[in-house]
Amino acid sequence: MEAREVKETVEHHGEKIELSIPNKAEFVSVVRLTLVAIANRVGFNIEEIEDMKVAIAEACTNAITHGNNTPAESINIHFTLMEKGLEIEVKDKGVGCDVEKIEDPKIEELNENGLGIFIIRSLMDDVKIHSEPDQGMTIIMTKMIG
Ligand SMILES: Nc1ncnc2c1ncn2[C@@H]1O[C@H](COP(=O)(O)OP(=O)(O)OP(=O)(O)O)[C@@H](O)[C@H]1O
Ligand SMILES: [Mg+2]
Repeated sequence: MEAREVKETVEHHGEKIELSIPNKAEFVSVVRLTLVAIANRVGFNIEEIEDMKVAIAEACTNAITHGNNTPAESINIHFTLMEKGLEIEVKDKGVGCDVEKIEDPKIEELNENGLGIFIIRSLMDDVKIHSEPDQGMTIIMTKMIG
């Protein structure tokens, strides 16, 4: 594995960047752009950044399509710089769901929906989901450099 320069994270370890977007699909691109800017500074490579772009877009799309009910509600995204990685939290205040009931997609139904969280889990190093009915959903995902 190539040795990579960890640019800013060591000195900025633990610092947070917060973003709040309206509950509308057209704002997901703003989140992706913000992520790229942050991830670049942290020192992730292109492949890692592409993985995180997909994961964060899936989480935001879920918040918009399954979570919040009205366009006026917002989705909050927190980026926390880690020593050699990035923690991303996506939080909605919508209807929530029973996390236990979210299943992995079945191979014979792969053309159906239900891939988002599975994809997030496969692209990120650690994923935690907190939700309860009517309490919204918070998904916390972490990716490490290298
Ligand atoms: N933010 C959320 N609020 C409430 N329920 C959610 C939220 N995110 C996911 N869910 C529930 O978890 C299920 C699985 O989400 P997942 O992203 O894996 O699949 P999907 O959104 O149904 O389909 P796809 O992402 O493949 O288009 C959803 O169908 C929904 O019931
Ligand atoms: Mg989804």
